[in-house]
Formats: sequence, C-alpha cells, structure tokens
Amino acid sequence: MEFVEQLKSAVDIVAVIGQYVRLKRVGAGPRYMGRCPFHTEKTPSFSVHSAYQFYKCFGCNAGGDVIKFVMEVERLSFYEALKLLADRHGISMPQRAEYADPDTKLRAALYRMHELALSLYRSALDSPAGAAARAYLQKRGLERARIEEFAIGCSDPSGQALTRVLQREGFTAEQLEASGLIMARHEGSGFYDRFRGRLMFPIHNESGKVIAFAGRALGDEEPKYLNSPETPVYRKSWVLYNLHRARHQIRKQDRAVLVEGYMDVIGVWSSGVEEVVASCGTALTPQQVRLLRRHSDKVVVNFDPDSAGVSAAERSIQLLLEESLRVRVLELEGGLDPDDYVKQRGPAEYRLRLDRAPGYFHWLADRARARYDMGSAEGRLAGLQFLLPAIQQVSDKLERATIANDVATYLGVEPGLVLERFRRSSAQRQEAVAGPPAPELRPVEKFLLRSLLASDEVRQQVLPMVKATAAFQQLATRRILEALSAMSEAGTTFSFAELEARLEDPDRRLLVGVAFDDKEAEATNPLVQALACVQTLAKEDREAPRSELKARVNAAVRAGNVEEALKWTEELARLDRR
Ligand code: UTP
Ligand code: MN
Repeated sequence: MEFVEQLKSAVDIVAVIGQYVRLKRVGAGPRYMGRCPFHTEKTPSFSVHSAYQFYKCFGCNAGGDVIKFVMEVERLSFYEALKLLADRHGISMPQRAEYADPDTKLRAALYRMHELALSLYRSALDSPAGAAARAYLQKRGLERARIEEFAIGCSDPSGQALTRVLQREGFTAEQLEASGLIMARHEGSGFYDRFRGRLMFPIHNESGKVIAFAGRALGDEEPKYLNSPETPVYRKSWVLYNLHRARHQIRKQDRAVLVEGYMDVIGVWSSGVEEVVASCGTALTPQQVRLLRRHSDKVVVNFDPDSAGVSAAERSIQLLLEESLRVRVLELEGGLDPDDYVKQRGPAEYRLRLDRAPGYFHWLADRARARYDMGSAEGRLAGLQFLLPAIQQVSDKLERATIANDVATYLGVEPGLVLERFRRSSAQRQEAVAGPPAPELRPVEKFLLRSLLASDEVRQQVLPMVKATAAFQQLATRRILEALSAMSEAGTTFSFAELEARLEDPDRRLLVGVAFDDKEAEATNPLVQALACVQTLAKEDREAPRSELKARVNAAVRAGNVEEALKWTEELARLDRR
C-alpha cells in the first residue's frame, strides 16, 4: 500500500481534528460539529465526517481529508503534514526525496537549527559562562524544575557560539540568515549571533516544535526582550507562548488564562494553573484568539495593572468579544503583575482571585466610571457610549438583556435608554445558519449516492447497472457517479476525499451536501437500498416512452392540433397493447 494511504487508514480524522477543535457528535451519527478554525463564526458550521474521513466547513467552504487539515491548520507542506501525523502515531516514514520541495527543505533546516540552538542555550546555562544568567534566575526565584520545564537557557555574550555550531553543521549562508538566529555583518563578510548574553526562552508552535526565541536582558540594557523576527517557521500573529503545554489543561478546565509576559506564564504555571498562555511581544491578534477558542471559549484576561497593560487589556477584550469568547478580567491589587503576585501572595491566593475574576463587563464599567463623570448626565451618557460596542458583541440574547439591566444600574442611567439602544443594535445582528444546506435532489438519487458511498461491494455491483439505465443520463448526480465509476475502473482505492477532488464545484457541493446530510438514517443494508434504487431507475426507463407520448398528446391538444393528438393517442394505445 502506498504510504499516504497507509497513514490515512491508521489515523482517525475525528481524533486528529479533535486536538485542534472542540467537536461535538451530532446525535449518534457519524458527523461531528465544531467552530471552524479557518474563519470567524459564532455558530458552528464546521463538520467532520467519521465515516468519510472528511471535514467540511459550510461557512467558508474549507474541506478535505486529514492531511489537508493538518496542512492548513499548522500551515505545513504536504510532506511536513505527513511527517507530523506519522511521528504522532509512531509510524515510520519512508525517506522519499520527491516529497520535499525547496520551501519544505528550508523549513526542515530551520527546525533543526532551532533544536541545535535550544540545546546550546541550555547547556550554556549550566556551564561557567552561564554564571550571570544563573544568578539572575536565582534572584527572580525561578526553581530548577521550572527552568527545565520551560527549557530556559542563555546565550553567549561573544556572539559567536551559535554561529560556530551552525556553520559546523554545514548550514548555508541563506539558511543561517533565514533562521532569524544569525545575522550577517554589515561590513565585510561573516556572521554573528542575534542573541548575545541574554536569558533565552524557547517559543514553540502548537505541535511542540521550537520555532523562535525570546531573549531577556540580564540587566537594564535595551530592549528588555529581544524576540526572533518573522521567519518561514515563525509567524508571530499565529503563535501563543506556552499553548503547546497549556492546551490539554485549557480543555480540561474549560478556560484559558491570558497574561502579558513570558515570566507571567511561568509564574502562573507555578501556581498550579497550567492553562496559561501569552502573546509573544505583540498585541493580541484575531488568529491567536482563534487558536485559543479551538480549545475553550472561556478566557480570563490577567494583564499588568500598569497603564500599558490596561490599554492592552481593553484592546484584547474587544477582540476576544468580537470572536465570541466569554471573557472575565482579573485585576490584581497592589499593582502587581501575575508573576509578582504569585510570588508575594502565594499560589493559593492567586488561584482564588482567578476563580473569582468578574465578568468583563464589570471591568469595563469601572473603566467607564474612571474615565467619565458619573455625576453628570452627559458623563453617564458618554460612559454608556463607551460600553456599547463591547456589549453589542454579546451574542446571547438573555445575557445581553441581563447586561442591559446591569449597565443601567451601574451607570445610573435611565434603563429605558439602555434598552432602546440595545434593541437598535440587536436588530442589526444576524444569526448565521449552521449545518449543511440540504441539497435539492430526488430521493432516489440521494439514496443511491449514499449507498454507493457506503461500500466497495455496492460500487462494484451496482454502478454498472446504474450506468446501463437510460435514466442515468438525466441524473443530477451523473458526474459524481461517473467519477466513482472511473475510480473503480482505474482500480483506485475509494476514498471520499479522492472522489471530492475529482469533481468541479457544483458537483462537489452536491456530493458533500448529500454525504453530510444526516437527517436521513444510514441504510442498514446499502446493497439492498442501492438495488431498490436501480429498480426505480429501470422502471423509469420502461415508462419513458409512455410518458413521452403522453406529453406529445397533451402538447397537441393544447395547440388545438386534433390530427397530431389522434396520432399520438393511437401510438399510446399500441404501446399499451404490447
Ligand atoms: P513587560 O515589560 O511587562 O515584561 O513586558 P515582563 O513580562 O513583566 O518581564 P519581566 O518580568 O520584567 O522579566 C511584557 C511582555 O511584552 C513583551 C514580552 O512578551 C514581555 O513578556 N516585550 C516587552 C517585548 O517583546 N519586548 C520588550 O522589550 C518588552
Ligand atoms: Mn510585566
């Protein structure tokens, strides 16, 4: 068997996608639903079909097999997706050069360079050269276990250590520069390390590969944090620090804790709250929010209490609400950031504060009260204006009404005024429709197609019969059946994805529509069902001449042509006598 097929039969698409998207089974059937990881949506319109091993989003039209999913969600080449799936399932992969295009090869080199850099930085921390970094870590109270867990290391101040290692490994100048780890000298030739004399935090992608680093200054030098630039393996806006460690716990606890900094992540993690992530040196992006939402739609935002942290929190909350997350906000007293808070007040106290964090609305209302004069009518109105955009994002009707009440009380505004504004904004909301659109298809065709998809036996036995009928030429599903038949004639192993790939768009939509429509139960015996459908088509064949003649009679009558009408009536009578 070809390796790709072997791999696909060894992995289950529901299990694989389930790692990235929270899926819910539809009834007891073969279909699962979730929120599409590829576009923003409030109502789930993303389906995974376990029998067909195929996913489809009826919102953005993304669809394919398990390999395509991994390619899209991890943004990998075909080869890399195969490799990731093979590694995860303990299947060894044949070394075949033809899988690897130049981009894939470059990315493979970059992953390797990051692995080498990681082990260099880690061993440097334990070497004599790591004394300053070790002292710094001790001063900040980081235990050995945390240093190991987060794979913290340090970079050599000379700026040559990593360059030397990577050159010795034979990486090309182009690869060195593409890695973001090595810089070319402006004057003259040669290279030097980007990170020098810093504490090094590796940044991983969701599948746990090191793709970048953040280097913290050991003293007051600027910048405090130096981050890897964007590279072919590191797209900042798509990465959350610590997500690969946190994602299991995010699901389990059904919440994520979002903090600002690397040290905050480590501090909060140390308090036993492992569902914690941070965006890496950038403002939160919609892509990062979607990463989170795949695992839970609840988030507690716990940013620094300084003014930069507060405005970052405001922007992030707006974004989280736009992406339909349920947001709570934790503000720690004493001007402490999460890391300092855990250290000063202890893990238990932090966890308590986290669990009691109020809904975002209270936090926003406090912002409004701090910003506007609640003593005056204009101030209260301005405060309401300030809150409205965030509240309009609340998708749940009941919740919106509750908040409307709260807003009124909290700001001391006329409740009627709030309600009126609410009604206006909710009228503009449009609820998306979820699920596959039911295809307009005659039942006989629907049942026939579904039973043909069900088994090889049906395809082998029934397809030739169907093609032999005259009615076949008129079927809306004709091109789908032709593709199926071409596949069996060519001896191609059937897969839903293969069939779908052979079709053009209207047929493709039709196929997925029929296949994902679970309003009809699966046939207990698809062969019997298919044969019944063939009977129906054969009956149509037999009746075709008769219906044709009847149509002619009717046309002639309508046209007032008696002679014609008589002629076709006689024909009809002759036919009936036979
Ligand atoms: P902070 O300045 O609050 O740092 O920046 P911190 O996380 O509290 O770090 P410590 O505790 O002083 O070591 C918060 C986050 O902003 C990004 C980093 O992601 C940092 O963790 N940042 C900050 C940068 O990317 N570059 C900088 O120069 C500063
Ligand atoms: Mn901080």
